[in-house]
Amino acid sequence: MAVGDSLYQDKYKALSSAISNRVWADKDLVSSLKRLGVDKDSFELADIGNALADFIAVKFSCPPSRWQSFLKGDKGALSTIEKKGAVAFFGKGRCAVCHTPPLFSDFKFHSIGVPQGDFGPHTRTRDLGRAGVTNKADDLYLFRTPPLIAVKDTAPYGHNGVFSTLESVVVHHVNPVQLFLDKPELMEGNDRYRLGRYLDARSELLRAIEVFSDDDLKSIISFLEAI
Ligand code: HEC
Repeated sequence: MAVGDSLYQDKYKALSSAISNRVWADKDLVSSLKRLGVDKDSFELADIGNALADFIAVKFSCPPSRWQSFLKGDKGALSTIEKKGAVAFFGKGRCAVCHTPPLFSDFKFHSIGVPQGDFGPHTRTRDLGRAGVTNKADDLYLFRTPPLIAVKDTAPYGHNGVFSTLESVVVHHVNPVQLFLDKPELMEGNDRYRLGRYLDARSELLRAIEVFSDDDLKSIISFLEAI
């Protein structure tokens, strides 16, 4: 195909023209593009990227959360327990070290010791995390900190959805044993012998989290439900 055969520096042009041919053969698309004032000669690959980005921005935008209203000065937007949760999240929980506002992610790679699951790209039956991209041993089982905006609506949690509740994933940061007690099937087969490695990969930053109580956990979850 023209794109595959062209030299690296020519690929963009080849892709643009291949995609342009397909787009301009579609009557519905053409009438929308014309309405927007796009013409065939100047149309290129980047237009598709921009259109997709715009679609995602509009379609997946979240309405402002109560946390955002609170930040804008509406002191009543959060309940007392949610405010307590915010204090624990930013304070003794040390959550914001990795889940850094405004999107509650530092967009870096860490491990909280999530076991293997069925989803995600597996290399030789294992999900290597960041190491699957970098091939570095230090990156084994690291995953990007997920943003927490609207997190109450995005269960299941963890990169492979192994946690069904907010409570179980939050607890896993400080108690990586509970999940295995609740789901012994995670330790079946050879995973039983690899568990130490998954847990060894856990970030040292997690050690800075102060021990919390049931009340702290409840308030942190309430806070998570408000962001
Ligand atoms: C060392 C950095 C780090 C710290 C500190 C941290 N987290 Fe996380 N958190 C992560 C990573 C990485 C994941 C995703 C792990 C995975 O998918 O393997 C995660 C996952 C989560 C998730 C699941 C989100 C989803 O969409 O799957 C929640 C909720 C969460 N963390 C809340 C918290 C709370 C609350 C605290 C504080 C008590 C906290 N985290 C502290 C790194 C961190």
